[in-house]
Amino acid sequence: MNTIQKLNIARSLELFDEAKKLVPGGVLGARKPSDFIEGQYPIFLEFGKGSRLTDVDGNEYIDFLCGYGPIILGYREEEVDEAVIRQIRDKGFCFTLTQRYQNQLAKKLNELVPCSEMSIFLKTGSDATTASVRIARAYTNRIKVMRCGYHGWHDWCVEMKGGIPEKFYEDVYEFRYNNLQQLEELMVKYGDQTAAIIMTPFGHPNHQKMEEPQPGFLEGVRKIATRFGAVLIFDEVRTNFRLSMGGAQKLYGVTPDLSVLGKSMANGYAISAVSGKTEVMMAASQKLFISSTFFPNSDGFVAALKTIEILEREHVIDNIWEKGDRFLKKVRNIIGKYNVGAELTGVAPMFYITFKKDTSNTYRGRRDDFYTLLIRRGIFLHPHHHGYISYRHTEQDLDITANAIDEALAYVNEKYPNKTS
Ligand SMILES: Cc1ncc(COP(=O)(O)O)c(C=O)c1O
Repeated sequence: MNTIQKLNIARSLELFDEAKKLVPGGVLGARKPSDFIEGQYPIFLEFGKGSRLTDVDGNEYIDFLCGYGPIILGYREEEVDEAVIRQIRDKGFCFTLTQRYQNQLAKKLNELVPCSEMSIFLKTGSDATTASVRIARAYTNRIKVMRCGYHGWHDWCVEMKGGIPEKFYEDVYEFRYNNLQQLEELMVKYGDQTAAIIMTPFGHPNHQKMEEPQPGFLEGVRKIATRFGAVLIFDEVRTNFRLSMGGAQKLYGVTPDLSVLGKSMANGYAISAVSGKTEVMMAASQKLFISSTFFPNSDGFVAALKTIEILEREHVIDNIWEKGDRFLKKVRNIIGKYNVGAELTGVAPMFYITFKKDTSNTYRGRRDDFYTLLIRRGIFLHPHHHGYISYRHTEQDLDITANAIDEALAYVNEKYPNKTS
Protein backbone atom coordinates (compact mmCIF):
# COMPACT_ATOMS: atom_id res chain seq x y z
CA MET A 1 0.00 0.00 0.00
CA ASN A 2 2.77 2.44 0.88
CA THR A 3 4.09 2.18 -2.68
CA ILE A 4 1.13 4.30 -3.76
CA GLN A 5 0.98 7.57 -1.95
CA LYS A 6 -2.02 8.53 0.14
CA LEU A 7 -3.99 11.36 -1.43
CA ASN A 8 -3.45 14.85 -0.14
CA ILE A 9 -6.96 15.79 0.99
CA ALA A 10 -5.94 18.50 3.47
CA ARG A 11 -8.31 21.16 2.07
CA SER A 12 -11.22 18.68 2.01
CA LEU A 13 -10.58 17.89 5.68
CA GLU A 14 -10.32 21.56 6.58
CA LEU A 15 -13.66 22.30 4.90
CA PHE A 16 -15.19 19.28 6.59
CA ASP A 17 -14.09 20.50 10.03
CA GLU A 18 -15.77 23.81 9.28
CA ALA A 19 -18.86 22.06 7.86
CA LYS A 20 -19.39 20.06 11.06
CA LYS A 21 -20.19 23.33 12.85
CA LEU A 22 -22.59 24.41 10.11
CA VAL A 23 -24.40 21.31 8.85
CA PRO A 24 -25.37 18.33 11.05
CA GLY A 25 -22.68 15.70 10.45
CA GLY A 26 -20.86 18.06 8.10
CA VAL A 27 -22.37 16.58 4.95
CA LEU A 28 -25.90 15.19 4.67
CA GLY A 29 -26.82 11.65 3.64
CA ALA A 30 -24.93 9.44 1.21
CA ARG A 31 -22.07 11.86 0.55
CA LYS A 32 -20.71 11.79 4.11
CA PRO A 33 -17.10 10.55 4.48
CA SER A 34 -18.04 7.53 6.62
CA ASP A 35 -20.01 6.15 3.67
CA PHE A 36 -16.72 5.80 1.75
CA ILE A 37 -13.38 4.92 3.39
CA GLU A 38 -12.75 7.67 5.86
CA GLY A 39 -9.50 9.54 5.40
CA GLN A 40 -8.90 8.10 1.93
CA TYR A 41 -11.56 9.70 -0.25
CA PRO A 42 -11.97 13.41 -0.93
CA ILE A 43 -14.96 15.15 0.68
CA PHE A 44 -15.40 18.31 -1.40
CA LEU A 45 -15.17 18.65 -5.16
CA GLU A 46 -14.24 21.76 -7.08
CA PHE A 47 -15.18 21.07 -10.72
CA GLY A 48 -15.79 18.43 -13.33
CA LYS A 49 -15.63 18.01 -17.10
CA GLY A 50 -16.53 15.01 -19.24
CA SER A 51 -15.65 11.87 -17.29
CA ARG A 52 -13.36 13.66 -14.84
CA LEU A 53 -13.74 15.33 -11.46
CA THR A 54 -11.27 17.50 -9.58
CA ASP A 55 -11.42 17.91 -5.81
CA VAL A 56 -10.64 21.00 -3.73
CA ASP A 57 -7.03 19.82 -3.27
CA GLY A 58 -6.49 19.59 -7.02
CA ASN A 59 -6.63 15.76 -7.29
CA GLU A 60 -8.22 14.57 -10.52
CA TYR A 61 -10.34 11.44 -10.84
CA ILE A 62 -11.92 9.37 -13.58
CA ASP A 63 -15.36 9.30 -12.02
CA PHE A 64 -17.76 6.34 -12.20
CA LEU A 65 -20.41 7.63 -9.79
CA CYS A 66 -21.71 10.13 -12.35
CA GLY A 67 -23.22 12.34 -9.65
CA TYR A 68 -24.97 9.18 -8.27
CA GLY A 69 -26.65 8.58 -11.62
CA PRO A 70 -27.80 11.73 -13.38
CA ILE A 71 -24.71 12.23 -15.53
CA ILE A 72 -25.40 10.09 -18.59
CA LEU A 73 -23.49 12.26 -21.10
CA GLY A 74 -20.70 13.83 -19.07
CA TYR A 75 -20.02 16.64 -16.66
CA ARG A 76 -20.59 20.14 -18.07
CA GLU A 77 -22.00 18.85 -21.36
CA GLU A 78 -21.91 22.06 -23.34
CA GLU A 79 -24.95 21.56 -25.55
CA VAL A 80 -27.20 20.85 -22.55
CA ASP A 81 -25.77 23.66 -20.44
CA GLU A 82 -26.03 26.11 -23.34
CA ALA A 83 -29.70 25.22 -23.88
CA VAL A 84 -30.44 25.87 -20.20
CA ILE A 85 -28.41 29.09 -20.11
CA ARG A 86 -30.25 30.36 -23.21
CA GLN A 87 -33.57 29.53 -21.60
CA ILE A 88 -32.67 31.36 -18.39
CA ARG A 89 -31.21 34.39 -20.22
CA ASP A 90 -33.67 34.78 -23.11
CA LYS A 91 -36.98 33.57 -21.71
CA GLY A 92 -36.76 32.79 -18.01
CA PHE A 93 -37.56 29.56 -16.21
CA CYS A 94 -39.54 30.31 -13.02
CA PHE A 95 -42.97 31.73 -13.70
CA THR A 96 -46.48 32.07 -12.36
CA LEU A 97 -47.82 29.54 -14.87
CA THR A 98 -46.52 26.50 -16.72
CA GLN A 99 -44.38 26.80 -19.87
CA ARG A 100 -45.15 24.67 -22.88
CA TYR A 101 -42.15 22.31 -22.48
CA GLN A 102 -44.16 19.94 -20.30
CA ASN A 103 -46.22 18.93 -23.35
CA GLN A 104 -43.12 18.34 -25.46
CA LEU A 105 -41.48 16.20 -22.82
CA ALA A 106 -44.66 14.22 -22.10
CA LYS A 107 -44.98 13.46 -25.84
CA LYS A 108 -41.36 12.36 -25.99
CA LEU A 109 -41.84 9.98 -23.07
CA ASN A 110 -44.90 8.51 -24.82
CA GLU A 111 -42.67 7.76 -27.81
CA LEU A 112 -39.92 6.15 -25.78
CA VAL A 113 -41.28 4.50 -22.63
CA PRO A 114 -43.58 1.52 -23.29
CA CYS A 115 -46.06 2.15 -20.46
CA SER A 116 -46.22 5.92 -20.97
CA GLU A 117 -49.50 7.48 -22.08
CA MET A 118 -49.58 10.42 -19.64
CA SER A 119 -46.97 11.96 -17.35
CA ILE A 120 -46.58 14.25 -14.40
CA PHE A 121 -43.32 16.05 -13.71
CA LEU A 122 -41.63 16.63 -10.39
CA LYS A 123 -38.08 17.34 -9.26
CA THR A 124 -36.53 14.36 -7.46
CA GLY A 125 -36.78 10.58 -7.64
CA SER A 126 -38.24 10.53 -4.12
CA ASP A 127 -40.94 13.03 -5.16
CA ALA A 128 -41.87 10.76 -8.03
CA THR A 129 -41.87 7.37 -6.27
CA THR A 130 -44.03 8.86 -3.51
CA ALA A 131 -46.38 10.39 -6.09
CA SER A 132 -46.65 7.06 -7.94
CA VAL A 133 -47.68 5.25 -4.76
CA ARG A 134 -50.23 7.95 -3.93
CA ILE A 135 -51.70 7.69 -7.44
CA ALA A 136 -51.92 3.89 -7.12
CA ARG A 137 -53.60 4.16 -3.72
CA ALA A 138 -56.09 6.72 -5.02
CA TYR A 139 -56.82 4.68 -8.15
CA THR A 140 -57.40 1.38 -6.33
CA ASN A 141 -58.83 2.73 -3.07
CA ARG A 142 -56.46 0.34 -1.31
CA ILE A 143 -53.64 1.01 1.13
CA LYS A 144 -51.01 -1.75 1.17
CA VAL A 145 -47.85 -1.60 -0.91
CA MET A 146 -45.29 -4.27 -1.83
CA ARG A 147 -41.87 -2.84 -2.52
CA CYS A 148 -38.46 -4.04 -3.70
CA GLY A 149 -35.37 -1.83 -3.92
CA TYR A 150 -34.40 1.68 -2.85
CA HIS A 151 -37.09 4.26 -3.61
CA GLY A 152 -35.70 7.35 -1.87
CA TRP A 153 -35.81 9.01 1.51
CA HIS A 154 -39.55 9.51 2.12
CA ASP A 155 -41.44 8.19 5.14
CA TRP A 156 -43.06 5.15 3.53
CA CYS A 157 -39.86 3.54 2.24
CA VAL A 158 -36.65 4.83 3.81
CA GLU A 159 -34.51 2.24 5.60
CA MET A 160 -33.57 4.33 8.66
CA LYS A 161 -36.80 4.81 10.55
CA GLY A 162 -35.77 7.64 12.92
CA GLY A 163 -38.39 10.38 13.08
CA ILE A 164 -41.08 8.39 11.25
CA PRO A 165 -44.25 7.16 13.02
CA GLU A 166 -44.78 3.44 12.37
CA LYS A 167 -48.23 4.10 10.90
CA PHE A 168 -46.54 5.77 7.92
CA TYR A 169 -44.94 2.52 6.78
CA GLU A 170 -46.87 -0.25 8.53
CA ASP A 171 -48.77 -1.05 5.31
CA VAL A 172 -45.60 -1.39 3.25
CA TYR A 173 -44.03 -4.86 2.83
CA GLU A 174 -40.65 -5.62 1.33
CA PHE A 175 -39.84 -8.53 -0.97
CA ARG A 176 -36.50 -9.65 -2.36
CA TYR A 177 -35.52 -9.16 -5.99
CA ASN A 178 -35.83 -12.37 -8.02
CA ASN A 179 -37.91 -13.99 -5.24
CA LEU A 180 -41.28 -14.49 -6.90
CA GLN A 181 -42.43 -16.93 -4.26
CA GLN A 182 -42.03 -14.38 -1.48
CA LEU A 183 -44.14 -11.86 -3.40
CA GLU A 184 -46.72 -14.55 -4.19
CA GLU A 185 -47.02 -15.41 -0.47
CA LEU A 186 -47.42 -11.76 0.49
CA MET A 187 -50.04 -11.22 -2.17
CA VAL A 188 -52.01 -14.34 -1.25
CA LYS A 189 -52.22 -12.84 2.24
CA TYR A 190 -52.75 -9.15 1.38
CA GLY A 191 -53.45 -9.01 -2.37
CA ASP A 192 -57.05 -7.79 -2.07
CA GLN A 193 -55.82 -4.82 0.00
CA THR A 194 -52.74 -4.08 -2.12
CA ALA A 195 -52.69 -0.86 -4.12
CA ALA A 196 -49.26 -1.22 -5.71
CA ILE A 197 -46.26 -3.40 -6.29
CA ILE A 198 -43.34 -0.99 -6.71
CA MET A 199 -39.95 -2.39 -7.65
CA THR A 200 -36.72 -1.62 -9.43
CA PRO A 201 -36.96 -3.77 -12.59
CA PHE A 202 -33.22 -4.35 -12.40
CA GLY A 203 -31.74 -5.53 -9.09
CA HIS A 204 -29.50 -2.84 -7.62
CA PRO A 205 -29.99 -3.11 -3.85
CA ASN A 206 -27.86 -0.83 -1.66
CA HIS A 207 -24.43 -2.25 -0.74
CA GLN A 208 -25.12 -5.56 -2.47
CA LYS A 209 -24.36 -7.38 -5.69
CA MET A 210 -26.41 -6.34 -8.70
CA GLU A 211 -28.91 -8.79 -10.17
CA GLU A 212 -30.42 -9.14 -13.62
CA PRO A 213 -33.96 -10.50 -13.68
CA GLN A 214 -34.06 -14.28 -13.74
CA PRO A 215 -36.08 -15.71 -16.65
CA GLY A 216 -39.76 -15.30 -15.86
CA PHE A 217 -39.30 -13.07 -12.80
CA LEU A 218 -40.59 -9.78 -14.22
CA GLU A 219 -43.29 -11.60 -16.21
CA GLY A 220 -44.30 -13.37 -12.99
CA VAL A 221 -44.57 -10.09 -11.07
CA ARG A 222 -46.66 -8.63 -13.90
CA LYS A 223 -49.06 -11.60 -13.71
CA ILE A 224 -49.38 -11.39 -9.93
CA ALA A 225 -50.14 -7.64 -10.08
CA THR A 226 -52.82 -8.19 -12.73
CA ARG A 227 -54.32 -11.17 -10.88
CA PHE A 228 -54.79 -9.16 -7.68
CA GLY A 229 -55.73 -5.87 -9.34
CA ALA A 230 -52.68 -4.03 -7.99
CA VAL A 231 -50.91 -1.29 -9.92
CA LEU A 232 -47.46 -2.43 -11.07
CA ILE A 233 -44.92 0.39 -10.77
CA PHE A 234 -41.39 0.09 -12.11
CA ASP A 235 -39.00 2.42 -10.31
CA GLU A 236 -36.74 3.22 -13.27
CA VAL A 237 -35.06 6.20 -11.61
CA ARG A 238 -31.65 4.61 -12.28
CA THR A 239 -32.47 2.50 -15.33
CA ASN A 240 -34.47 4.69 -17.74
CA PHE A 241 -32.19 6.45 -20.24
CA ARG A 242 -29.43 4.12 -19.06
CA LEU A 243 -30.24 0.47 -19.76
CA SER A 244 -32.23 1.63 -22.79
CA MET A 245 -34.11 4.73 -23.93
CA GLY A 246 -37.27 3.06 -22.68
CA GLY A 247 -35.72 1.69 -19.50
CA ALA A 248 -35.57 -1.88 -18.23
CA GLN A 249 -39.21 -2.38 -19.30
CA LYS A 250 -38.16 -1.92 -22.92
CA LEU A 251 -35.01 -4.03 -22.53
CA TYR A 252 -36.78 -6.96 -20.88
CA GLY A 253 -40.15 -6.63 -22.60
CA VAL A 254 -42.38 -6.39 -19.52
CA THR A 255 -44.66 -3.35 -19.29
CA PRO A 256 -45.76 -1.96 -15.91
CA ASP A 257 -48.79 0.29 -15.33
CA LEU A 258 -46.68 3.19 -14.08
CA SER A 259 -43.03 4.03 -14.39
CA VAL A 260 -40.91 6.42 -12.33
CA LEU A 261 -38.12 8.30 -14.08
CA GLY A 262 -35.46 10.69 -12.80
CA LYS A 263 -31.69 10.90 -12.59
CA SER A 264 -30.22 10.67 -16.10
CA MET A 265 -33.24 12.18 -17.89
CA ALA A 266 -31.65 15.67 -17.84
CA ASN A 267 -27.90 15.07 -17.40
CA GLY A 268 -27.85 16.52 -13.90
CA TYR A 269 -30.68 19.07 -13.87
CA ALA A 270 -33.45 18.38 -11.40
CA ILE A 271 -36.50 16.79 -12.97
CA SER A 272 -38.35 13.52 -12.43
CA ALA A 273 -41.53 12.00 -13.78
CA VAL A 274 -44.29 9.49 -13.23
CA SER A 275 -45.53 8.12 -16.55
CA GLY A 276 -48.11 5.50 -17.21
CA LYS A 277 -51.46 4.26 -18.34
CA THR A 278 -54.09 6.98 -18.74
CA GLU A 279 -56.69 5.23 -16.63
CA VAL A 280 -54.37 5.04 -13.62
CA MET A 281 -52.67 8.41 -14.17
CA MET A 282 -56.03 10.23 -14.25
CA ALA A 283 -56.32 9.62 -10.53
CA ALA A 284 -53.65 12.32 -10.20
CA SER A 285 -56.05 14.95 -11.45
CA GLN A 286 -59.28 13.69 -9.97
CA LYS A 287 -58.54 12.37 -6.52
CA LEU A 288 -55.43 13.92 -5.04
CA PHE A 289 -53.21 16.96 -4.88
CA ILE A 290 -49.61 16.98 -6.10
CA SER A 291 -48.07 20.42 -6.50
CA SER A 292 -44.89 22.24 -5.64
CA THR A 293 -43.51 25.71 -6.27
CA PHE A 294 -40.59 24.42 -8.31
CA PHE A 295 -42.19 21.53 -10.26
CA PRO A 296 -43.02 23.61 -13.38
CA ASN A 297 -39.65 25.42 -13.60
CA SER A 298 -38.50 24.92 -17.15
CA ASP A 299 -34.72 24.53 -16.63
CA GLY A 300 -35.19 20.81 -15.98
CA PHE A 301 -37.58 20.39 -18.94
CA VAL A 302 -35.23 22.16 -21.35
CA ALA A 303 -32.28 20.12 -20.08
CA ALA A 304 -34.28 16.89 -20.43
CA LEU A 305 -35.41 17.67 -23.98
CA LYS A 306 -31.84 18.50 -25.02
CA THR A 307 -30.36 15.48 -23.23
CA ILE A 308 -32.85 13.12 -24.90
CA GLU A 309 -32.16 14.76 -28.28
CA ILE A 310 -28.42 14.03 -27.86
CA LEU A 311 -29.04 10.51 -26.56
CA GLU A 312 -31.08 9.74 -29.69
CA ARG A 313 -28.94 11.61 -32.21
CA GLU A 314 -25.65 10.07 -31.08
CA HIS A 315 -26.94 6.61 -30.13
CA VAL A 316 -25.43 7.16 -26.71
CA ILE A 317 -26.90 4.11 -25.02
CA ASP A 318 -25.47 1.81 -27.74
CA ASN A 319 -22.09 3.46 -27.30
CA ILE A 320 -22.21 2.86 -23.54
CA TRP A 321 -23.17 -0.80 -23.98
CA GLU A 322 -20.42 -1.41 -26.55
CA LYS A 323 -17.51 0.12 -24.67
CA GLY A 324 -18.92 -1.03 -21.33
CA ASP A 325 -19.12 -4.65 -22.54
CA ARG A 326 -15.48 -4.54 -23.66
CA PHE A 327 -14.46 -3.01 -20.32
CA LEU A 328 -16.41 -5.51 -18.21
CA LYS A 329 -14.96 -8.43 -20.18
CA LYS A 330 -11.48 -7.13 -19.45
CA VAL A 331 -12.26 -6.64 -15.76
CA ARG A 332 -13.81 -10.11 -15.51
CA ASN A 333 -10.59 -11.62 -16.92
CA ILE A 334 -8.50 -9.61 -14.47
CA ILE A 335 -10.64 -10.72 -11.52
CA GLY A 336 -10.25 -14.33 -12.71
CA LYS A 337 -6.46 -14.12 -12.23
CA TYR A 338 -6.70 -13.58 -8.48
CA ASN A 339 -8.16 -15.60 -5.63
CA VAL A 340 -9.38 -12.65 -3.59
CA GLY A 341 -13.16 -13.19 -3.59
CA ALA A 342 -13.81 -10.21 -5.89
CA GLU A 343 -17.03 -10.41 -7.90
CA LEU A 344 -18.16 -8.31 -10.81
CA THR A 345 -21.93 -7.93 -11.25
CA GLY A 346 -24.27 -5.76 -13.27
CA VAL A 347 -24.26 -4.88 -16.94
CA ALA A 348 -22.28 -2.46 -19.08
CA PRO A 349 -24.10 0.77 -18.11
CA MET A 350 -24.15 -0.13 -14.37
CA PHE A 351 -21.57 -2.41 -12.75
CA TYR A 352 -20.19 -3.19 -9.29
CA ILE A 353 -17.15 -4.96 -7.83
CA THR A 354 -17.92 -6.53 -4.45
CA PHE A 355 -16.02 -8.97 -2.22
CA LYS A 356 -17.46 -12.31 -1.07
CA LYS A 357 -18.10 -12.46 2.67
CA ASP A 358 -15.83 -15.03 4.35
CA THR A 359 -15.73 -16.83 7.68
CA SER A 360 -12.53 -15.06 8.76
CA ASN A 361 -14.22 -11.76 7.87
CA THR A 362 -11.24 -10.39 5.96
CA TYR A 363 -13.45 -9.34 3.09
CA ARG A 364 -13.83 -5.87 4.60
CA GLY A 365 -10.05 -5.41 4.62
CA ARG A 366 -9.73 -6.72 1.08
CA ARG A 367 -12.53 -4.43 -0.10
CA ASP A 368 -11.20 -1.35 1.69
CA ASP A 369 -7.61 -1.90 0.48
CA PHE A 370 -8.84 -2.42 -3.08
CA TYR A 371 -10.93 0.76 -3.17
CA THR A 372 -8.24 2.76 -1.32
CA LEU A 373 -5.71 1.84 -3.99
CA LEU A 374 -8.15 2.81 -6.73
CA ILE A 375 -8.91 6.23 -5.31
CA ARG A 376 -5.18 6.85 -4.83
CA ARG A 377 -4.72 6.00 -8.51
CA GLY A 378 -7.41 8.54 -9.41
CA ILE A 379 -10.24 6.07 -10.06
CA PHE A 380 -13.45 7.15 -8.34
CA LEU A 381 -15.31 3.92 -7.72
CA HIS A 382 -17.33 3.44 -4.54
CA PRO A 383 -16.91 0.58 -2.04
CA HIS A 384 -20.64 0.55 -1.22
CA HIS A 385 -22.31 1.64 -4.46
CA HIS A 386 -22.20 0.44 -8.04
CA GLY A 387 -20.60 2.52 -10.78
CA TYR A 388 -21.98 3.88 -14.05
CA ILE A 389 -20.41 4.39 -17.46
CA SER A 390 -21.22 7.62 -19.24
CA TYR A 391 -20.93 8.74 -22.86
CA ARG A 392 -17.79 10.78 -22.13
CA HIS A 393 -15.83 7.89 -20.63
CA THR A 394 -13.15 7.26 -23.23
CA GLU A 395 -11.52 3.95 -24.15
CA GLN A 396 -8.39 5.39 -22.54
CA ASP A 397 -10.29 6.09 -19.27
CA LEU A 398 -11.50 2.52 -19.26
CA ASP A 399 -8.02 1.11 -20.00
CA ILE A 400 -6.47 3.17 -17.20
CA THR A 401 -9.22 1.92 -14.89
CA ALA A 402 -8.74 -1.74 -15.88
CA ASN A 403 -4.99 -1.45 -15.23
CA ALA A 404 -5.61 0.15 -11.83
CA ILE A 405 -8.03 -2.65 -10.95
CA ASP A 406 -5.37 -5.21 -11.94
CA GLU A 407 -2.76 -3.50 -9.79
CA ALA A 408 -5.09 -3.18 -6.79
CA LEU A 409 -6.19 -6.81 -6.95
CA ALA A 410 -2.57 -7.98 -7.25
CA TYR A 411 -1.81 -6.09 -4.03
CA VAL A 412 -4.84 -7.55 -2.23
CA ASN A 413 -3.94 -11.03 -3.49
CA GLU A 414 -0.48 -10.76 -1.97
CA LYS A 415 -1.63 -9.26 1.32
CA TYR A 416 -4.46 -11.74 2.01
CA PRO A 417 -3.37 -15.12 0.66
CA ASN A 418 -6.07 -17.85 0.61
CA LYS A 419 -8.53 -16.06 2.85
CA THR A 420 -11.61 -16.16 0.69
CA SER A 421 -13.60 -19.08 2.15
C1 LIG B 1 -34.26 3.47 -7.80
C2 LIG B 1 -34.32 4.78 -7.10
N1 LIG B 1 -35.52 5.30 -6.78
C3 LIG B 1 -35.62 6.49 -6.16
C4 LIG B 1 -34.50 7.22 -5.82
C5 LIG B 1 -34.65 8.54 -5.13
O1 LIG B 1 -34.26 9.54 -5.98
P1 LIG B 1 -33.74 10.97 -5.41
O2 LIG B 1 -32.43 10.70 -4.73
O3 LIG B 1 -33.61 11.81 -6.64
O4 LIG B 1 -34.78 11.47 -4.48
C6 LIG B 1 -33.24 6.71 -6.13
C7 LIG B 1 -32.02 7.46 -5.76
O5 LIG B 1 -30.93 6.94 -5.74
C8 LIG B 1 -33.14 5.46 -6.79
O6 LIG B 1 -31.97 4.95 -7.10
